[in-house]
Amino acid sequence: MATYIVLLGPPGAGKGTQAKMLSETLGLPHISSGDIFRENLKNQTELGKEAQGYMERGELVPDDLTIRMIRERLSRPDSQKGAILDGFPRTPAQAEALSGMLSEWDADVDVVPYISVPAEVLIERLSGRWTCRAEGHVFHEKFNPPKKAGVCDFDGSELYQRDDDKPETVKRRIHVYMEQTSPLIEFYKERGKLVEIDGTQPIEQVTSKLAAVVSKA
Ligand code: AP5
Repeated sequence: MATYIVLLGPPGAGKGTQAKMLSETLGLPHISSGDIFRENLKNQTELGKEAQGYMERGELVPDDLTIRMIRERLSRPDSQKGAILDGFPRTPAQAEALSGMLSEWDADVDVVPYISVPAEVLIERLSGRWTCRAEGHVFHEKFNPPKKAGVCDFDGSELYQRDDDKPETVKRRIHVYMEQTSPLIEFYKERGKLVEIDGTQPIEQVTSKLAAVVSKA
């Protein structure tokens, strides 16, 4: 049976950090819409060029483009056993589209862990975040420092600070999250899929709560 997990939470909640670990534990692909957009941006594909302005402003890329991209990713053979979705869906239209595509494959979203973190914590997290160029591993200068400054512990690649982690863009992203993505909390609650996890705890504690939630799904 395929297992589809949607990680929900505001920018900086720890979705990427937790998704990477969960992906290894469960042997399921980690599908991050933000990572796919950034990869396309780096390679200057048509998709990357279309997404660039929205990302720089901290706004959402239009639904049709995003849904097409995720459909293509979920259609690949490795996603047929399930996936950990990080950053998608982000609007009610995306959530409806996800249900539609999974039902075509006789599957459904199994569980939606919602990592909740208040806005003031998010700003500190994002301003201290360092991301690895090769595979998107995530560190924090205070909460999760790499062994050697500027170098990824896992693959030795360079660490960089994301352009959209500038304070003004972070504020915009949080605002956009509140307006356009937070309605998904109710959407998945109504469907009995949502489980809230306190994301202000240390990374390891969030990981064990998440593991417990997922094992019951
Ligand atoms: P995306 O890349 O998805 O960004 P996001 O959702 O804003 O999430 P982040 O990656 O910023 O945060 P995270 O929750 O993964 O936190 P992390 O684990 O890194 O999207 C970027 C852009 O792409 C969007 O603005 C939009 O333009 C576009 N886009 C993407 N998807 C889209 C969609 N579906 N539709 C339309 N547009 C889309 O952790 C953050 C920091 O905190 C790290 O430094 C980490 O080390 C630290 N940390 C993590 N957990 C803890 C903890 N428990 N305690 C202390 N520190 C912690």
